[in-house]
Amino acid sequence: DGAHPGHPPPPRGAAVTASTGQAPSVAPFSVRMPVPPVARPVASRPDIDVYRIPIQRAEVDILPGFATSALTFAGHFVGPTIRARTGRRTYVTFANDADVPTNIHLHGGHVPPASDGHPMDLIDPGKWRHHDYPNRQRGATLWYHAHPHHVEAEHVYRGMHGFYLIEDPAEAELGLPGGEYDVPILVRDAEFDAKGQLVLWGHPANRTTILANGKPQPYFQVAARKYRFRFLNGANERTFTLSLGGTVMTQIASDGGLLPAPVPRTEFAFSPGERVEMVVDFSDYPPGTQLVLTDAAAGPVVRFDVTRKAADSSRVPTTLRALPALGSATVTRDVVLSFDLTSGNPTGLVNDKPFDPNRVDFQIKRGATEIWNVTNGDGNYGFPHNFHLHLVQFRVLDRGGRPPLPGDAGLKDTVAVPPGETVRVQATFATDYLGRYMYHCHFLEHSSVGMMAQMEIVP
Ligand code: C2O
Ligand code: CU
Repeated sequence: DGAHPGHPPPPRGAAVTASTGQAPSVAPFSVRMPVPPVARPVASRPDIDVYRIPIQRAEVDILPGFATSALTFAGHFVGPTIRARTGRRTYVTFANDADVPTNIHLHGGHVPPASDGHPMDLIDPGKWRHHDYPNRQRGATLWYHAHPHHVEAEHVYRGMHGFYLIEDPAEAELGLPGGEYDVPILVRDAEFDAKGQLVLWGHPANRTTILANGKPQPYFQVAARKYRFRFLNGANERTFTLSLGGTVMTQIASDGGLLPAPVPRTEFAFSPGERVEMVVDFSDYPPGTQLVLTDAAAGPVVRFDVTRKAADSSRVPTTLRALPALGSATVTRDVVLSFDLTSGNPTGLVNDKPFDPNRVDFQIKRGATEIWNVTNGDGNYGFPHNFHLHLVQFRVLDRGGRPPLPGDAGLKDTVAVPPGETVRVQATFATDYLGRYMYHCHFLEHSSVGMMAQMEIVP
């Protein structure tokens, strides 16, 4: 199994656990979906919030009756949610109280290189690191996760993922659902052994337990009113296609924040790392109604139980927020994602080379506007990939000459690149930070074996 290149074997030195029989089975909708706790600043001044978040091994409660060993932020399988604000700096000290070197990347964040979590820039056990997140960007649903080279797949799979929500004063006046009606939901899969432990580097097809905020197919009680759900695909390898039994959901945002206008959708697909924000209006459903959010392949993800009536003064205006002007590109580049299948040990490649931290793959002039043709070179084999760019948000121009898909709308930092397809994206690199940043496939077992490259922003 492990030698199949679409799901490569673990890199040398990786922790591997063998499957030890049937996973405990949990009846769907038997546990409640929690909302990840909100992190509390250890200090706040008018222009800055300071957080300290420990990285720790912990026993977490995922499957009823089992304690699962996880690698966590502050002991939570989905880490504490950091709520930041546009224009107000966040300073996070990540303290490594675990026994392995690791690091943290703010996915979707526009941050200085020293705070970006370069895969070779690790926090050793017993050490800590300050991360400077200026939040000079639009409101958006970001997430923070581990990014140490070769073991990002393992560390994220073990639980090093959490939300980072940037609230934007420009968004506040729109009147979208807020407070307890603004709910982040991390969707992912996992494989468990008979003792309720995570199986690492197993075949992704065996990751049949679907988790919403770290619980297997939970239920979530809602009031008969509008909710803002911030969905994150936190899986290593799985693309989800979610629907609510035909109920119309209103998409208001994607990776990098609000869309220009709301888009009604009955189904949406997202690949690892992508975010989709949906407003769901339960006001037509009397208390007692149950609506199941279902993945087209894996089945139920979470059941929304309408349990009460509630007042609702929120709204979804017909215009949300204009996108920044696209600008005209002066540079075009090609990026090909593929596997090297010539040896028994598949290696991930970007433009025919595995990741080399000592090599700069693209030099990019700060402020430049560029078009990248991102191709999945594994069309013959049918391996899916996606593409994630650090530092900036991009726009999807087209897919193989055809118009973008509904899910490509808005500001994106991660986009699906199906087998054989070329996705054209355009980005404007900001002028404020120079240095090295990653771009890679966000199927984390792929990036872990080399499907990653780096750019250097230069004067
Ligand atoms: Cu979410 Cu370079 O990753
Ligand atoms: Cu890939």
